[in-house]
Amino acid sequence: MRRIIIAIDGYAATGKSTTARGVAEALDYLHIDSGAMYRAVAWYLWEQGIRKLQAEKLPEWLASFSLHLEREGKEMMVYVGDRRLEEELRRPEISAFASEVSAVLWVRQRLIAEQRRLGQHGGVVMDGRDIGTVVFPHAELKVFMCADIEARVQRRYQELLARGIPADPEAIRHQLLERDQRDENRPISPLRKAPDARVLDTTHLTIPQQIETVVNWAKELIYAPASF
Ligand code: DC
Repeated sequence: MRRIIIAIDGYAATGKSTTARGVAEALDYLHIDSGAMYRAVAWYLWEQGIRKLQAEKLPEWLASFSLHLEREGKEMMVYVGDRRLEEELRRPEISAFASEVSAVLWVRQRLIAEQRRLGQHGGVVMDGRDIGTVVFPHAELKVFMCADIEARVQRRYQELLARGIPADPEAIRHQLLERDQRDENRPISPLRKAPDARVLDTTHLTIPQQIETVVNWAKELIYAPASF
């Protein structure tokens, strides 16, 4: 059976990672959250006390940085050195800093090379901002996720509460809009829908419905008769 690449891109808090995880589970594929890789770089810099990014200093600041992803079930867990990162990556200050870090070409080139290596054999669901446009422009299935800002604020708010992180809906709205603006307007690999991506508006969908939609699209391709 064909093991395809599924690229899921879109705005923050539209349910990309949760959907990607569920799709990977349903198809017995590997899930790779590319945003967690940018967050890991941001977390490492933050831990070094760096608060203001200077692109030209990054090679020096990141000289001892080592990122690796280790497979745990169907998930790839993120390690920096031997520290396993999870909740730390979701802190609001790391989200904002990751968005800045991800605008630097030098960082993107390194992480993109790693993402391509991880997905090269197919059987993978990768979510991010440029997976269908830059990382895997030939992905068999590309999905672009969007949702109304109100729905996204509520989702992120509930997600933070569930993780025990104090949250304020107004601050979340501001952060999401600021991040959209930065992700869409950066000169390198801006957030864009690939021309051949299918749009999934999740405003009125539940997580199981989002997963089912993408799984059905994937199955149409996986079981399609071969064409020449
Ligand atoms: O998906 P996320 O919120 O975890 O991503 C964190 C930041 O990393 C986000 O602001 C955009 C950036 N990012 C990116 O530029 N390219 C990707 N493929 C994934 C994330």
